[in-house]
Amino acid sequence: MWVNAGGDKFWVKYHFKTDQGIDFLTQEDADRIAGENADYHRQDLFEAIRDGDFPTWTLHMQIMPFEEARTYRFNPFDLTKVWPHADYPLIKVGTMTLNRNVTDFHTEMEQASFEPNNLVPGIGLSPDKMLLARGFSYADAHRARLGVNYKQIPVNAAKEAEVHSYSKDGVGRTVNAKDPVYAPNSYGGPAADPSRTDDAGLWAADGDMVRSAYTPRADDDDFGQAGTMVREVLDADARERLVSNVAGHLSDGVSDAVLAPGVRVLEERRRRPRREDRAGRRRGRRRLTHGVRGASLDDAGRAQPREGVPASRRPRRRGRRGHRPPRRRGRRRAAAARPPG
Ligand code: HEM
Repeated sequence: MWVNAGGDKFWVKYHFKTDQGIDFLTQEDADRIAGENADYHRQDLFEAIRDGDFPTWTLHMQIMPFEEARTYRFNPFDLTKVWPHADYPLIKVGTMTLNRNVTDFHTEMEQASFEPNNLVPGIGLSPDKMLLARGFSYADAHRARLGVNYKQIPVNAAKEAEVHSYSKDGVGRTVNAKDPVYAPNSYGGPAADPSRTDDAGLWAADGDMVRSAYTPRADDDDFGQAGTMVREVLDADARERLVSNVAGHLSDGVSDAVLAPGVRVLEERRRRPRREDRAGRRRGRRRLTHGVRGASLDDAGRAQPREGVPASRRPRRRGRRGHRPPRRRGRRRAAAARPPG
């Protein structure tokens, strides 16, 4: 969420679009390369920056007036959905350039602690449940990884402001603590500023969306945008890779107890497609032909349009189990607590 100086609130989506173009590795290539050079991507990035071939990303924003989130036809905080560009066009904001490599890997890289809850005035989180979880989870990981005073490490400390936190002593405290470090307190110490948080009623307008399960809306279905993406945006090869990758992951250690209910649903659907599936498919097509809604074709922009290859002639999946995801090697961080991120 953005709040401007006048107090007007907006919901925003950030789009960092690569200026390098999009390329990909097949699972086979990735498996092989991971065995030959686990730092393949890092090396590519390091060498490009070293040689002055700085990678850039153009930042675009989609901006939704605060009130529109209440009634938009699907839940805008469901991160599995795109906001159609026809409703919320991309507005170009600037360019991010990576123009310097770190010179001390431990100090500047291993100790770097990024967290979505590091926010400056005017920028806040949204009721996107995944983002809310990330709002506490990264900081927890940093405390476990680097100690409770990780914000004092120069690479993490703000350049113009003193570091304040609720931790007094503990690992890595390097700046003398000024009592009290807790709030509320009776000694003129730090005070929480609820005007910047949910307590200020910033989200109250969204009612149920904030604390309880999402309330479905007219166009809130799980298949519309995803189906359009698979059927209309991906070409036959991309679809093949998607199926192979999903199957590879599912068959790599997911227990039968977890898989069985999903398999039952899929078998049932294959035998007897449900009416809402067929309706969803028609709806998806209609949206695309009217060029207004559905999956954001602009977003998937560089993918080839569907080639119209009938299912029977599409390449078959290689191998019964699909491809296995590459094994992670050489993790630079104590990643025991790291969920897939
Ligand atoms: C849209 C979804 C998400 C995105 C785009 C995302 C992105 C990332 C990225 C780019 C990293 C850094 C990886 C690296 O340093 O190699 C990361 C790490 C991490 N992510 Fe996520 N993540 C997402 C979801 C989540 C969720 C749902 C959680 C937990 C509730 C989570 C917890 C973490 C943690 C704990 C780390 C490690 C932080 C550290 O020690 O530096 N992430 N994530």
